[in-house]
Amino acid sequence: MRKKIIAGNWKMNMLPGETIEFINELAPLVKNTENEVILCVPYTDLFYAILTAQGTNIKIGAQNMHYEEKGAYTGEVSAQMLKAINVEYVIIGHSERRQYYNETDETVNKKIKSAFANNLKPIVCVGETLEEREEGKTAEIITKQTELALNGLKNDEVENIIIAYEPIWAIGTGKTATSDDANNSIKEIRNKIAQIYGQNVASRVIIQYGGSVKSTNAKELFSMSDIDGGLVGGASLKAEEFSKIVNF
Ligand code: 13P
Repeated sequence: MRKKIIAGNWKMNMLPGETIEFINELAPLVKNTENEVILCVPYTDLFYAILTAQGTNIKIGAQNMHYEEKGAYTGEVSAQMLKAINVEYVIIGHSERRQYYNETDETVNKKIKSAFANNLKPIVCVGETLEEREEGKTAEIITKQTELALNGLKNDEVENIIIAYEPIWAIGTGKTATSDDANNSIKEIRNKIAQIYGQNVASRVIIQYGGSVKSTNAKELFSMSDIDGGLVGGASLKAEEFSKIVNF
């Protein structure tokens, strides 16, 4: 049985002091969960988050990274740098990065390879726009994104990847995919992985849903056969609300 992984994506929110306060409030509220709890925080909060989360079941992730190890890339942060401060996870290919910062399927693939080379676990985002959905292209888009993201990875790497299916029209809009819709899209992704890497690998990959997840819809979504937890934006910014999602 696959475990459920609930990850918060704070995006560009929270200062170091708020991070420390948040984790101290969240830790006792989620200490008994069997689900995995991850907080993906801004670079400037990472070190504070890692220190504060020591001795708890909360794991810490970054929200992006560069695919090169080092060099003349002003303003960028590499997988090696994240690993050096004990970051465990990294979000790769979030739709906001694809939309605003020229992230492509090719850079996503390079970043995943660099993350694995440095023992970071990637949380890879895929998802369709509203227009693509209305044109009936959802399955085609998300399976293509998945195929290109995973291109050239070994089976044991694919098994250890976390995929977040985030329909773009559901992000920050209060609109959630129905649990059936989300489950079906995730099944499409899993089937594509089965075609390329085999059924065994596909049945082990964690695939989350993201897009307006809150405490009131988490249980319905996360109880579906193929939805292995969630990537939570806005609702991960309040410790109590996020703890209810973790303890759905
Ligand atoms: P919201 O939960 O705010 O819709 O954001 C989802 C998301 O983009 C998580 O990565």
